[in-house]
Amino acid sequence: MNWMNRWPGPFPLFVDKAEGAAVVDVDGLHYVDFCLGDTGAMCGHSPAPTVAAITRQAARGITTMLPTADAAWVGGELARRFGLPLWQIALSATDANRFALRFARQITGRPKVLVFNWCYHGTVDETLATLDAHGQVQARPGSVGPQVDPALTTDVVEFNDLPALERALAGGDIACVLTEPALTNIGIVLPDNGFHDGLRQLTRDAGTLLIIDETHTLCAGPGGYTALHGLEPDLLTLGKPIAGGLPAAAYGFTHEVAAAIAEPITVSDDADVSGVGGTLSGNALGLAAIRATLGEVLTDAAFEHMIPLAERWADGVAGVIAEHGLPWTVQRLGARAEYWFCPPPRNGGDAAAAVDHELDAFMHLYALNRGVLLTPFHNMALMSPATTVADVDRHTEVFAAAVTELLA
Ligand SMILES: Cc1ncc(COP(=O)(O)O)c(C=O)c1O
Repeated sequence: MNWMNRWPGPFPLFVDKAEGAAVVDVDGLHYVDFCLGDTGAMCGHSPAPTVAAITRQAARGITTMLPTADAAWVGGELARRFGLPLWQIALSATDANRFALRFARQITGRPKVLVFNWCYHGTVDETLATLDAHGQVQARPGSVGPQVDPALTTDVVEFNDLPALERALAGGDIACVLTEPALTNIGIVLPDNGFHDGLRQLTRDAGTLLIIDETHTLCAGPGGYTALHGLEPDLLTLGKPIAGGLPAAAYGFTHEVAAAIAEPITVSDDADVSGVGGTLSGNALGLAAIRATLGEVLTDAAFEHMIPLAERWADGVAGVIAEHGLPWTVQRLGARAEYWFCPPPRNGGDAAAAVDHELDAFMHLYALNRGVLLTPFHNMALMSPATTVADVDRHTEVFAAAVTELLA
């Protein structure tokens, strides 16, 4: 996996065990883990309630291709958190996004999807597209073997650019806009004030569905950015930590979407080739793990612990930056924070241009050698329910030492 090789140094750490917010490598060295499996372990590694539920369910049937009672609880809880009434379960956030795109194309009868420049939504073909230097859609640099030229399936505009979005939607061929509410995969890029109102209005006016991907922005709170800011997507996708790191994901939708999709996916004789689902989707083990993780681990109280820790992490870093008068900045979204070597970018194109691979590698390796793991992409840290004040202060200490050595 190329992202395992993205860790700094000539080889990745090999892990002996991971527990709470800590990782121990095969040499017995301990690390504070701010990467947390790039969000897959946002609940902390192997949280006790999830492990207990998995152990219990594993002895009672792992997959039967039938729902268990947990399905009803999970559907209700997702509806309570995110405000969308109806849910389906998938095995990965990638799959949830792929199925949401199919729903959107089925309902609208339109061929194209629109994403923002330098987005990431998993290995979803249509989304592996960026803008080239002339503003044309191209395959994302480095993406392997595009199935078709993404310019045929996808429109791309810059995040926070409502006029460009309006122009793209005017063609009437866009089934849906798929976006994170704040970009997190090219560093954190926050929406401008009014961006989400404009996005919702423009998509409604154009008859284009709006899909919000909360896979990473779940860090904003128990109901993600959507609940925190009252967004009104037609569909919402999420995955990664919801089953404690076991492969499981979910996508929710409105009654209108459900009514429009019910016939092709449930009633028709051809439903088994509808292009959504998968044999193991919604398996009993995954549902038990989601129930335990949402019910007992990623709770409201957990976020009340995690978000102040991210504030403390950001304040610590900002204090060091100010002390040395560096032009660097810190960005934060709920329980996630990161630093930039420049002012915070407003869109993916600017964010991609601002990446300094050499400086990133130095900061990451410096931290790693002192027992602190950062997400290998960007300079990002995520807090879990198991993260402590001491963990955060250790990062600040290491960051301060790295900056002092850089300037020496
Ligand atoms: C916002 C977002 N959506 C979807 C995905 C895909 O998740 P997975 O690789 O678990 O399918 C990712 C992965 O990084 C992501 O960041």
